[in-house]
Amino acid sequence: MNIKYSFENYGVVVTGGAQGIGFETARSFLQAGAKVSIWDYSTDAIKTAQKELSQFKAQAHFAQVHVTKSESVQQASANLPFGVDVLINNAGITRDKSFAKMTEEDFKQVIDTNLTGLFHVTKNLMEKFKTDTFQKRIINISSVVALYGNFGQTNYVASKSGVIGFTKTLARELSKKGFTVNAVAPGFIQTAMVAKMPPEVLQAMAAKVPVGRLGETNDISNACLFLASQEASYINGIVFSVDGGLVC
Ligand SMILES: NC(=O)c1ccc[n+]([C@@H]2O[C@H](COP(=O)([O-])OP(=O)(O)OC[C@H]3O[C@@H](n4cnc5c(N)ncnc54)[C@H](O)[C@@H]3O)[C@@H](O)[C@H]2O)c1
Repeated sequence: MNIKYSFENYGVVVTGGAQGIGFETARSFLQAGAKVSIWDYSTDAIKTAQKELSQFKAQAHFAQVHVTKSESVQQASANLPFGVDVLINNAGITRDKSFAKMTEEDFKQVIDTNLTGLFHVTKNLMEKFKTDTFQKRIINISSVVALYGNFGQTNYVASKSGVIGFTKTLARELSKKGFTVNAVAPGFIQTAMVAKMPPEVLQAMAAKVPVGRLGETNDISNACLFLASQEASYINGIVFSVDGGLVC
């Protein structure tokens, strides 16, 4: 490892943090000394994450939160035991179907989680951000497909493109208050979300990536650590592609 981050005295919230990319990101910030609140709606995933992160008992906080539900987010924000420096809006779902087969419910569920959820969380946490720092960070997890579309994902791509628009606008609105707001666009990362795909599809996907492999969760957590660091304080309103060169 070439870079060693220190986030001691930082408060971090990671949505969808009990599994996959969110879990790895939460763990990375814990390893760097931060206090991290892991928000997730899956009690099973939270239980597993609690076990896996038991060495960080003093720093890790867990809350069962549905990002789609405003009251649930409100409650979690009110109960947060520390001030926030960094928010990682990561919770997301897919409900893939060709447009011909996609139902209104498939469309709505994905927009509600991936885009409206991000609104609820960011809105409710605004007053929990620390007021004595000009190094506040909001990092929104978008997707490579937001940049070029993908068969069977009109709902998902619409939501993730929305995340980019939300990010760029919020970056303009919040900069003078000491925030940077950026999006990360992961390529194909090996998590439960991608594991649902047949092995031959995964192989074909890996073959399309210029660096010749699928991504790992730590490829994304490393990008989040960097964007959250003081060294990234002049990076604002961007889409940080972490995709092995898929979009280049
Ligand atoms: N895996 C990939 O290849 C990939 C690529 C691009 C973007 N992304 C994005 O990265 C993020 C994380 O993806 P992942 O692959 O780790 O997914 P994952 O399914 O492994 O984890 C997502 C987590 O979010 C939680 N979650 C889902 N809906 C929620 C809700 N309403 N409220 C609270 N928690 C909720 C789940 O319980 C789960 O723990 C998502 O936003 C996804 O769209 C993933």
